[in-house]
Amino acid sequence: MLSYQHSFHAGNHADVLKHLTLVAVLERLNLKTKPYFFLDTHAGDGIYNLNSEQALQNSEAKTGILQLESNRQLDNDENNNVKGNSALFNSYVNIVNQYIGEQQYPGSPMVASALLRKGDNAFAAELHPQAFESLQRSCRRTGIKAQHRDGYEVLNAVLPPTPNRGAVLIDPPYEQVCEYQQVIDAVTKAIKRWPIGIYMIWYPLLSDTREDRRTNEIVNNPKSALSEKMLSQFSGLNVKSVLNIQFCTLKPSQKVGMYGSGMCILNPPWQLDNDLKEILMTLQKILPSDNNELSKVEWLKTE
Ligand SMILES: C[S@@+](CC[C@H](N)C(=O)[O-])C[C@H]1O[C@@H](n2cnc3c(N)ncnc32)[C@H](O)[C@@H]1O
Repeated sequence: MLSYQHSFHAGNHADVLKHLTLVAVLERLNLKTKPYFFLDTHAGDGIYNLNSEQALQNSEAKTGILQLESNRQLDNDENNNVKGNSALFNSYVNIVNQYIGEQQYPGSPMVASALLRKGDNAFAAELHPQAFESLQRSCRRTGIKAQHRDGYEVLNAVLPPTPNRGAVLIDPPYEQVCEYQQVIDAVTKAIKRWPIGIYMIWYPLLSDTREDRRTNEIVNNPKSALSEKMLSQFSGLNVKSVLNIQFCTLKPSQKVGMYGSGMCILNPPWQLDNDLKEILMTLQKILPSDNNELSKVEWLKTE
């Protein structure tokens, strides 16, 4: 069932966290001239129109990229001292700025394509036919090979990759309960074939209950705690180390569905923990949050 459309969520706080982490990982890989492999298993549309009917329905970009842009602007004007002006943060903002003037937001393949070099071997998989059409158009002038295929199937087919160093981004919609187990199974299988790969897995943090948008009733959320269970499985995998970042904008409450999100990185590059701490500090300064206590960077497994 392919009902999920990322255009409703593009540029929200979860996208900002995910894409900043992606920039951090690819910049670490770029420190060596040796080419690398990159796969985006759930690539989405590539480029999103922030003025589309879908994007405006809940205006989620206002919880992320639009708020971040306006806070930076404000701070720049008032204090002449931009918040969050680290090289890493600026690198992400420079990528976004190539799109935001046109009221667009770059999805993960576009963020990656800004950092990939000639000679790097990159793939983006997308299963939804319309999203794939858009992805294919977006990837046309990049070095990324867009594939209209199941992302897990591509993962299985390309591993171990050429070149043998690189990273995989796994960013499923998690619409159905079974998708969490699908990720665990796919990653468990993948690391057997490519134990040295860097795996970045995005996940949502969900309250026990949420408000049903149609009926306004409070209903149980059968997916709450599934991300946490998935993380505990990752820490037991046969990889060198596992690093985790999570950023929460709201307190888990009766009505709120997603109160935050995270990225779990298996085999993170050297010093990525410092990058993630910098990302979290910057996000906490720039995107107001009701829930600083649950935001964190932590090692789930160390060598
Ligand atoms: C969260 S969105 C991706 C957003 C994108 N990674 C970004 O950051 O810009 C998830 C996407 O996965 C697609 N999808 C769902 N199941 C899939 C599968 N098995 N293989 C590939 N794509 C899938 C959906 O159509 C949707 O576009």
